[in-house]
Amino acid sequence: MSLIIAKDICHVYDSGERAYEALKKVNMSISEGEFVALVGPSGSGKSTLLSILGVLTKASSGIVQIDGIDVTNLGEEERARFRREYVGFVFQQFHLMPYLTALENVMLPLVMTSISKKEQKEKARLALAKVGLEEKGHRLPAQLSGGEQERVAIARAIVNEPPLLLADEPTGALDVANGNRVMALLTDLNKQGHTIVMVTHNPAYEPLAHRVIRLQDGAIVEGSGSLTRPGEVS
Ligand SMILES: Nc1ncnc2c1ncn2[C@@H]1O[C@H](COP(=O)(O)OP(=O)(O)OP(=O)(O)O)[C@@H](O)[C@H]1O
Ligand SMILES: [Mg+2]
Repeated sequence: MSLIIAKDICHVYDSGERAYEALKKVNMSISEGEFVALVGPSGSGKSTLLSILGVLTKASSGIVQIDGIDVTNLGEEERARFRREYVGFVFQQFHLMPYLTALENVMLPLVMTSISKKEQKEKARLALAKVGLEEKGHRLPAQLSGGEQERVAIARAIVNEPPLLLADEPTGALDVANGNRVMALLTDLNKQGHTIVMVTHNPAYEPLAHRVIRLQDGAIVEGSGSLTRPGEVS
């Protein structure tokens, strides 16, 4: 079953005097359980598309359906709630809070929920264990290596067990060994059931994905997936 369906997505950045069309009629579908690599030259629209799929950015036009829910016209509050429930984000720059420990950083997505503090800690510990950092929860980000910081960011993204994991160049700031480790971790998380869309510039990682979607100048030139499976597209 399709977890994500995007239909005719256009996105225009309107900054001052010149509007820029970053996405031009993008159509794609991603199945539940897939691991997709999103690739393409710098400026081709990868981060923009990821942000739209993650319900962070509202597309200028087009429809996004996730798990059968049309998220296109949800209000801000509903979008935030949807993100909390469905999406985990991992970025190249880890975006960890420097004054919080690794464990506290991982707890952040749970703070707004009704889960008790004790349970929040327990879930955060479990997520840290999944990324192999159970011993380092008490450290501040500055006391961790780059690869460890990225793994903390991944633990934070999966702590509420979102079906969809979106990663924007998660290995971009890492050396080869740490990059490979993060890739092995993502592969593992995919096997555990998370659907993953990962932006990467590294061709060596493409074969690890089930499918490569290639963007060029704001349009998909390869791998959009079938949009016409019976009964799925309204
Ligand atoms: N806030 C913005 N205002 C205006 N233009 C933008 C904005 N953000 C992105 N763009 C433009 O939209 C296009 C797509 O940007 P995007 O960040 O999605 O590319 P990308 O494929 O992720 O590139 P990279 O590989 O360098 O990260 C680029 O030409 C970029 O300059
Ligand atoms: Mg980008």
